[in-house]
Amino acid sequence: MRFNVLTIFPGLIEYYAGESIIKRAIAANRAEVKAVNIRDFTTDKHLCVDDYPFGGGPGMVLKVQPIYDALMSLRAEAANGEATQGHVVLLSPGGRVFTQSVAEELANCGKNLTLICGRYEGVDERVVEFVDEEMSIGDYVLTGGELAALVIIDAVCRLLPGVLGDERSKEEESFTSGLLDYPHYTRPAEFMGMKVPEVLIGGNHRLIQNWRQRESLRKTLLHKPDMVNCAELTEADREILEQLKEEIHR
Ligand code: ADE
Repeated sequence: MRFNVLTIFPGLIEYYAGESIIKRAIAANRAEVKAVNIRDFTTDKHLCVDDYPFGGGPGMVLKVQPIYDALMSLRAEAANGEATQGHVVLLSPGGRVFTQSVAEELANCGKNLTLICGRYEGVDERVVEFVDEEMSIGDYVLTGGELAALVIIDAVCRLLPGVLGDERSKEEESFTSGLLDYPHYTRPAEFMGMKVPEVLIGGNHRLIQNWRQRESLRKTLLHKPDMVNCAELTEADREILEQLKEEIHR
């Protein structure tokens, strides 16, 4: 899957994509990250990518023309230009909120993903005409879309087949099961008087599995009770939940 990022700070994207899991995914030909510098598409002799807002007011607005031309350059890259740009997203605090299920949708849609990063006070509204949707990573305002683009690339990339070393880790973890992840421990077995739960050291896999499920339910109940209502639970899970509720209220 190819991720195109239209930005005026390509270095931010390249830096993050050059480390860790994304770097490995790229090396293994599972993913490609292309940062497209919007400034390369200005027709302005001063290479201006922004301008004052019509109607006055504070701040500058990213111009529509360089963004449009940057997008068209992706189309021009291949015979089937649509395939190169794939699904086009404008990052903006007012867009559809990005969640794990949106990450799964994007990872499984079989298309590339083009992310357009806004900056300053905003982007010329006409850019919206050239995108498939607007997306937000949460209810707060960032100074630009680059961090949002990286969050989306990171979350989608790790879902691509063969990207994570251990395929189990993404299946067992938070959100995929509809519950928060169980607690993890590694050596030492005791640190400053704090001991690792006995059951994890005992080597009985069935007991470990039961403990993990119980702790997963406990964490979700305590930290994200709304998730419990949406999770797919077995009869045994429901019983454990009742016990946990009693424990918590005691
Ligand atoms: N640009 C500024 N704030 C943003 C947010 N919360 N999500 C996506 N893009 C943004």
